[in-house]
Amino acid sequence: MSKLKFTVFSDLHHHPAWYKSDAPERLAAIQKRALESGSELILHIGDFSHKPSACPELIKQYKEFQIPGYFVLGNHEFDIDSYETVLKTMGLENGYYFFDHGGFRFVIMDENWFRDFPGCYFHYSERNYFDHPGFRDWMPPEEIEWVRETVLNSPYPCILASHAPVSYGPNPKAGMKQECKEAIEAIIRESQGKPGQVVLCLNGHYHRSGIDVIEGVPRLDVNSATFNWIPKPHDLFPEKEWYKEYECIGNMVIYEKPVSAEVIIDTCEQTVEVIGCEGNFLHDVSTEASGNVSGSRLSTADMVSAKVKYGIENN
Ligand SMILES: [Fe+2]
Repeated sequence: MSKLKFTVFSDLHHHPAWYKSDAPERLAAIQKRALESGSELILHIGDFSHKPSACPELIKQYKEFQIPGYFVLGNHEFDIDSYETVLKTMGLENGYYFFDHGGFRFVIMDENWFRDFPGCYFHYSERNYFDHPGFRDWMPPEEIEWVRETVLNSPYPCILASHAPVSYGPNPKAGMKQECKEAIEAIIRESQGKPGQVVLCLNGHYHRSGIDVIEGVPRLDVNSATFNWIPKPHDLFPEKEWYKEYECIGNMVIYEKPVSAEVIIDTCEQTVEVIGCEGNFLHDVSTEASGNVSGSRLSTADMVSAKVKYGIENN
């Protein structure tokens, strides 16, 4: 029987010329909370920076903290840098990998691939994915096979993490591409009742906070640590100098506090507990106040708290 507490956060979006993300300060606050909460590890679920090669200090701040920090890769990691540069500067040998900790297996997926001709998969690199909006968020067959073997051969319950979700509660069409989603859901289903049973899926990407239990497996939608991106720009911040300093400031509604969550998984109780956080939008400039709409899940500046059971028999 195992019990593990870890911290999760996502979508820090460090790019000091584009976004006011105050990433070093936000990261330090999240690390402080993780330390005080007794978290055994920290997981960032993608979009750490828009140019990892330009922020070695921030990566060092994350990787050399006294609690081990792990990366999931997000699409925006590849906005400027090449795939190889991202891996090298973020200290990864591969985009997908696993690690075991405290009686659990973390399976880190990498859905940052687009499909060109059928059967031809290309990894995101130097912004190439912007040209393939309808064919994004895919995993090649060899990665899916790797997920299958890693989960089904695991001696420990598994936590699946990906930047874009496998299945997304509020909008079943969102997340990974359909074939990819179906293949991963089949692995999740097959794992139930086995030692490598998937007990939790984590995602970022949408800058939303929520939890859904789908087929007995909780899916935690991890909000951005920083902001929501809005398509229709606003000029509501009183700090008018920001509009000269940050290229995309009008496309941001900023979270006053750095957003993160503590997650506790207890295999004895068969529960996943999330201790989120409260929060407000800076200057009360929310997604709706800026003249934009939230979409399928309400845009908030906080992170949900919940305690749910996992396992088909419990749901
Ligand atoms: Fe993001």
